[in-house]
Amino acid sequence: MNAEDIQQAVIDSVSPEWRHDPYRAYEVLRAAGPFVPGPLGTRLVPSHREAEAIMQDSRWSHAEESELLHPDSGVELPGSFLWMEPPDHTRLRGLVSKAFTARTVEGLRGRAEHLVEDLFDKILAQGEVDLLESLAYPLPLTLVCELLGVPAEEHEAVRQMSGAIARGLDPDLLLSPAELDARTRAVHEFNAFFGDLADRRRAEPRDDLITALVQAEAAGVRMTPVELLGTLLILVVAGHETTVNLIANGVLALIRDPAEFDRLRADPGLAVSAADEILRYDAPVHLTTRTAREELTVSGQTFAPGDAVIVLLASANRDPAAFPDPDRLDLGRYAPGRRAGRHLSFGLGLHYCLGAPLARLEMEVTLRAIARRVSSFTLRQDPPPYRPNLVVRGVSELHVHIRGHREDPS
Ligand code: HEM
Repeated sequence: MNAEDIQQAVIDSVSPEWRHDPYRAYEVLRAAGPFVPGPLGTRLVPSHREAEAIMQDSRWSHAEESELLHPDSGVELPGSFLWMEPPDHTRLRGLVSKAFTARTVEGLRGRAEHLVEDLFDKILAQGEVDLLESLAYPLPLTLVCELLGVPAEEHEAVRQMSGAIARGLDPDLLLSPAELDARTRAVHEFNAFFGDLADRRRAEPRDDLITALVQAEAAGVRMTPVELLGTLLILVVAGHETTVNLIANGVLALIRDPAEFDRLRADPGLAVSAADEILRYDAPVHLTTRTAREELTVSGQTFAPGDAVIVLLASANRDPAAFPDPDRLDLGRYAPGRRAGRHLSFGLGLHYCLGAPLARLEMEVTLRAIARRVSSFTLRQDPPPYRPNLVVRGVSELHVHIRGHREDPS
């Protein structure tokens, strides 16, 4: 492989033209070596071994991402703990972590099942639908908004703000002036909207997460108003933009692989393993960054303090050194006893995704409903159109013709 091929793969891995399939470029990058010179003076980390080593090691910081990707943005994304280090990270993450334990999240199963059943009633009655709008968005958006305590009539407004912010997580140099403006506006709207909602909950507490956070604040746990907004921002944006793509990626993968779809229908219990396999196979979050706090050596390469890397999580998940037959969707890969490698779709280490149990639950419940209620679906356009988003990657629509079973009440 020559230097030109590698350079081209670096370009393709970020190019909107290849957003529908960055995996070919990732393969070239993995073959080029453990570290490949990347944009913004970074080194790209395409392989599982080094990605895992870096994510696990807290001497690599995530606090410099804003400086790296949004150097002159002029707009402060409120200080979310995703971009903090201990002790601030520990304090703020601790305040919300109770709401996301496996046990607490299991308590949401009934509500998730009810929502999914309702959505499928409508979808199957229509037959011809955009599954992004009719399934992938409503489930995670409704659940995270209900958890926080956002009134139903405001869910759509939250979705609009959050979409513009999610696009704004990409490096500024990839964003158009209109997208940068939209992000600034959305952050201001977000702060006004959630600042107002927090005030309402201070005055009139309810049984929701915003009330729990303002009460913790009142009980003397240190949290500034900006930190409260930052915490809400990461819960809203990370809490649904990602899961939307997981659901859409999962449906797309099943449509493209009828044998695996049949396997799921024959054994709906596979849904638990299938959720993790879909996370591995087509990760919703493609990359993250880390900056060395001190001199560090990984796989023989030395990094000076301040050196930054872009960890290609979705590429690590397709690394043949970590996963046999990595480009194959194998819904049973994570079944008990199979000892599959660890995918990095939820990150690893200090910043490991807080919402992982919720995301897994949402996907499992969706897959069980698909297994039970859908007899066939056909894609109207393959590949479907993708959003330009690099970090949180996914389709912009997913038009399908879908059929249920005859005995389905709809
Ligand atoms: C399929 C769905 C999801 C995916 C793929 C995903 C992915 C990730 C990843 C990769 C990280 C780590 C980023 C890094 O270390 O740089 C992360 C962190 C985080 N995620 Fe998720 N996420 C998902 C769903 C959720 C949900 C449903 C919530 C909450 C409602 C959530 C809340 C968070 C939070 C708060 C963090 C920051 C944790 C910390 O800094 O300690 N995520 N997520």
